[in-house]
Order: sequence, then C-alpha cells, then structure tokens
Amino acid sequence: MRKALVAGNWKMNGRVARNDELVTDVLAGLVERGLMDRVDVMVFPPSVYIGQVKAVARGSALAVGAQNLCEFDDGAYTGELSAGMLIDSGCSAVLIGHSERRAMFGDSDQRVAAKVGAALAAGLTPVLCLGESLEQRDAGETLSVVSAQFDAAVAGLDVADISRLVLAYEPVWAIGTGRTASPEQAQEVHAHLRTLLAGFGRDVAERVRILYGGSVNADNAAALFEQQDIDGGLIGGASLKAKDFLVICQAADTGRDG
Ligand code: PGA
Repeated sequence: MRKALVAGNWKMNGRVARNDELVTDVLAGLVERGLMDRVDVMVFPPSVYIGQVKAVARGSALAVGAQNLCEFDDGAYTGELSAGMLIDSGCSAVLIGHSERRAMFGDSDQRVAAKVGAALAAGLTPVLCLGESLEQRDAGETLSVVSAQFDAAVAGLDVADISRLVLAYEPVWAIGTGRTASPEQAQEVHAHLRTLLAGFGRDVAERVRILYGGSVNADNAAALFEQQDIDGGLIGGASLKAKDFLVICQAADTGRDG
C-alpha cells in the first residue's frame, strides 16, 4: 500500500511571520490528529523561506521542497537555483513542470525533462506535474496530452529513477479556479498514468505515488482520495490555511484506509 502524500504548494505567497504561524499550526495539528507517521506531508514555500520553514519544522517529519530548480549545475545563470543549492538548504523534493511554469516561464517538455534529470542526480524527489487545458479536455485529448508530457519527462531515465518520481495530475482548468475534476474524471487519468508506469514494471506502478491537484479543498478532498489511484494531493490555495490543510491531510489518511 502506498503511503498517502499531501503536498502544499504555497506558490508566490508568504511572509516571515505568516509562515511561522502556518507551519507551527500545521505541525501542531498533525501531532494532535496522530497523522505525523501516517501521512507524508511536504510544503513547498518560496525559495527564500525554505531555510525558515526548515528551522520551524526541525525535528519533525514535515518535508520541505522547492517550487522550481534550474536544470544546470552552478554557474553563470543569474537568478536561478541549482539542485545542489536546494539540497544544501534542506530540500528533499522539488516541483517540476507545474502548469504555471509551463505557461508563463518557458518550461517546455524538454526543459522539464532536463530538470527531472538534474533533480534525480542530486538526490531530490521530483514531483512531476502533468495536466491538460480545457480546450484539450473538450477535444478529447486529455489522455494523449498527459501521456506525451509523461513520455517526454521520463525519456532517458532508467527504471530505478522512474520509481523515485512522484506524479501530480493537475488539470489546468482546475488550478486556482474553484472548479475541481470530479473524482471519476481524476481517477480515469490516474489509472492511465498508472498504466504508463506499469510499462516500466509492476513494482514501479505500485510504488510511484500519483497526486491530484486543482482546487482541492477541505470539502472535496475526501471523495478524491477515496479513488483507488489517487494517493494524495498537491494543494495550492488551501495549503495556506492550516485548518483546511489539516482536514485535507486527514482525508488522505482516511482515503488510504477506506
Ligand atoms: P489550487 O492549486 O489548489 O489553488 O488550485 C493547485 C496547484 O497549482 O498546485
């Protein structure tokens, strides 16, 4: 059984005082609900706050990741952060290929693949984000779009590397819109991704966690996490509110049992 994973993508939000309160409240809530060992929880703050969040979370199982990395090693890349720097600042994971980066910051399939390679080489867990636009869904292209994104990102990786990935299915039309995929719509894509993973061996398919992301909130999380191939969530807006994020973590744990 795959352990549930809930990841909070803070996006470009946060300030020192607010981060402190949020992480402190999340940690206290996880302990109070007995979830600390039952659900893997990660937060992805803006990079400048990674050290702060690591310090607040010290001694706990809360993992900290980055929202992006540069595909190159250290060098003349003004404004970028290398995988080695993320490791150095205490990250264990990194989001790669989020649709906001694909749409606004030039993260093409090729660049996403290079970033996945750089993350793996440094020992970071890549959380590889995939998802179709509304036009693509309406045109019946959802499965072919996520297949192409997946194939491009894993081209050149060996089976051992692929088994270290986390996938996050995030339909672009559901991100930040309040409009979530139905549990059935999400499950269909997750099952498809599981089949693609199985192409690299049954162990890989059984091991790799596939998160759903896109307007997950305290009310809809439980129904999503009950689906067989949904192993947790990548949470944007609701990860900024400790109370909601904790309900989502609880739902991920219950979804595993159910
Ligand atoms: P949202 O964002 O939960 O605010 O829709 C999810 C994401 O972009 O990862």
